[in-house]
Amino acid sequence: MRLARRAAVAIAAGTLLTGLAVHGTATATAPHAGSPPDTLTVTDPAQADTLREAAASQGRFIGTALNDALLGDPAYTAIAGGEFSSVTAENAMKWGSLEPNRGQYNWAGADRLVEFAAAHDQQVYGHTLVWHSQLPGWVENGGFAPAELRQIVDDHIATVAGRYAGSIDRWDVLNEVFNEDGTFRDSVFYRAFGDRYIADAFRAAHAADPEAKLFINDYNTDGINAKSDGMYRLVSSLLAEGVPVHGVGFQSHMILGQMPSSYRANLQRFADLGLEVAVTELDIRMNTPADPARLDRQADQYRQVVGDCLAVSRCSGVTVWGISDRDSWIPDVFPGEGAANLYDDAYRPKPAYWAVLDAFGGAPGPDPTDPDPTDPGAPASCTAAYRVVNSWSGGSVVEVSVTTATALDGWQARFALPAGARVTNGWNAVFAAAGGAVTASHVDHNRVVPAGGTVSFGFQADTGAHATPAVALNGAECARS
Ligand code: G3I
Repeated sequence: MRLARRAAVAIAAGTLLTGLAVHGTATATAPHAGSPPDTLTVTDPAQADTLREAAASQGRFIGTALNDALLGDPAYTAIAGGEFSSVTAENAMKWGSLEPNRGQYNWAGADRLVEFAAAHDQQVYGHTLVWHSQLPGWVENGGFAPAELRQIVDDHIATVAGRYAGSIDRWDVLNEVFNEDGTFRDSVFYRAFGDRYIADAFRAAHAADPEAKLFINDYNTDGINAKSDGMYRLVSSLLAEGVPVHGVGFQSHMILGQMPSSYRANLQRFADLGLEVAVTELDIRMNTPADPARLDRQADQYRQVVGDCLAVSRCSGVTVWGISDRDSWIPDVFPGEGAANLYDDAYRPKPAYWAVLDAFGGAPGPDPTDPDPTDPGAPASCTAAYRVVNSWSGGSVVEVSVTTATALDGWQARFALPAGARVTNGWNAVFAAAGGAVTASHVDHNRVVPAGGTVSFGFQADTGAHATPAVALNGAECARS
């Protein structure tokens, strides 16, 4: 059922995409996402089989950074629309994208994103009004006197936040204003105004869009440290002054194995100020190529982040920075690292995906023995041989061969391991696990299988000799051979 519902979402999303209008001029009317509900109603979280349903069951959003240039890709679009309840523009709402020349706005990408969100009943997280980076040269190097720069900033905020007023749930009004030691970052704005520009930007954004929740966002502020202490001092003083700041975003660009131990406590101390907190740009990178053990540890870390957000009642949700590993910014910036997101290069859900779904209380991962309920009683169209070829007290090597009666273009084989057992290493398939359920998905070289053909894959598990489980191929249980 889960696979079938995903396919249905894909078709619906693809259909909607073709109907999108794109506005490309400064005078076009801004599209409106309306006021999407903060939560969707899912009465039984265990039935939630998308991230957004599961997150909604906990009263949270689950977001992604959307690259509007990829919306022509049906796989990307189906996941973006079907799995996430909030979208953040990865680049399209940055100053350099929107106003490359003074007063000349390019709305196409941002409009497209807002239209997409409206079509998919999603919240929009605006990113970002004032940031030292991706700032057009005319602002950065204009040599403006403070009064003129003030006007320029005010105009930009009024124009952008004003255009999308009513469509944006949260705005990153400020992004990355701190140095690592908690002092203020040197920038064209800081040089002109000192830290006063921060309060001014919040006030200008509030005037332009009184409904949006206004955030300040940063990286390396995820745990309690000098930088997050600086953020804490700043937002405390802004609140004391009556500045309209409503939330703090914790980017959470993490490294595998380096989850700050004070993550939850840090979110909580900001929440205790009465602010909303959100995980705004989550990814967990590792050295590449990934392997099953690292992907499992990554899943555990994702689960921990979601759990920490859920433990803080004012944590409104979690945005993952991109959909698949292949769309991620990381390999460009950190060569040799990547595999940081919830979907792999072929848009297949990774262990991290199932961990996030599970952490939000959603349906357990793939059930290995359930035939596809949309095709009840379908005769087995495959035979499977599951052989434990070697075993010892704490491990085993397993080979699985599946022969299909019909031709396949892409496949997933599912089976169960004994409780608590994990796949530690594998070959000729990509492995994902949730609970004891394992999904082995095709790799490029064995994606296409002719009728009567056999695919074989293998893995090492951290459990000894064990009973031979049933194997299901693309949702249909195979006869044993
Ligand atoms: O659009 C141009 C294209 O025309 C040109 O041919 C190409 C050549 O390099 O560059 C393209 O622009 C790139 C842009 O992404 C769109 O793909 C920029 O070079 C590249 O620097 C930019 O990177 C973005 C980065 O922010 C810029 O700082 C990443 O996609 C984006 O994921 C990243 O996101 C940031 C958040 O906004 C703030 N927090 C950190 C996070 C990760 O760095």
